[in-house]
Amino acid sequence: MKNIIIAVDGHSSCGKSTVAKAVARKLGIAYIDTGAMYRTVTLYAIRHGLAKEGYIDTEGIAGALGDMDITFSFDKEMGRNTTYLNGENVEDEIRGMAVSGLVSPVSAIPAVRAKLTDWQREMGRNQSVIMDGRDIGTTVFPDADLKIFMTARPEVRARRRYDELTAKGQEANLAEILRNVEERDRQDSTRAVSPLRKADDAIVLDNSDMTREEQFDFVIERVKEIKQAHPCK
Ligand code: DC
Repeated sequence: MKNIIIAVDGHSSCGKSTVAKAVARKLGIAYIDTGAMYRTVTLYAIRHGLAKEGYIDTEGIAGALGDMDITFSFDKEMGRNTTYLNGENVEDEIRGMAVSGLVSPVSAIPAVRAKLTDWQREMGRNQSVIMDGRDIGTTVFPDADLKIFMTARPEVRARRRYDELTAKGQEANLAEILRNVEERDRQDSTRAVSPLRKADDAIVLDNSDMTREEQFDFVIERVKEIKQAHPCK
């Protein structure tokens, strides 16, 4: 059976990872969170004084890429992926506001995108994957078997991120999160290299008024359609 590649792109905080994880579990394929990779590079940059508000050391960050060993493991107890930077569990820290506020400019650096794109392609070379991000269907896997473009109204996305952070006991401010969501939309869609845009052959999934089950069913239905059209997949 041929490997299957599913690309899930879309705006920030619209639940891409929740759907992608559930679909990965159902299909028994790998789930790869590419946003976690960009967030981890950003955390490294912050810790080394290479990124702060109003300041991004593009060359410094590009030069430090070789010093960052980013790995993932699946935490069975928590039922979630855990991200490691040079062996340290950074899963919670990369989701906080400090990283969220700087990840868009860091992910706009061409050398960062080139390195992470190569790595993501490598991860999809010999296995079936569902990968979520911003440029999976347009740049990383333009020939993906299925492309989903997810979106939701900004207010809905901010509320979801707020609930996620407060559920983990982290401090959160709804208005600040909404500003961050809108600002990241703007930066992610207007950057020069691989801007966020819907691939021409992607299917739009606006989940503003959908339950998780409905979103999951939507994607699984699309996978079934592909398998019917191409029985060897
Ligand atoms: O999916 P996320 O919100 O965790 O992603 C964090 C940031 O990383 C997002 O604002 C833009 C960047 N990103 C990217 O540029 N390309 C990707 N494939 C994934 C994320």
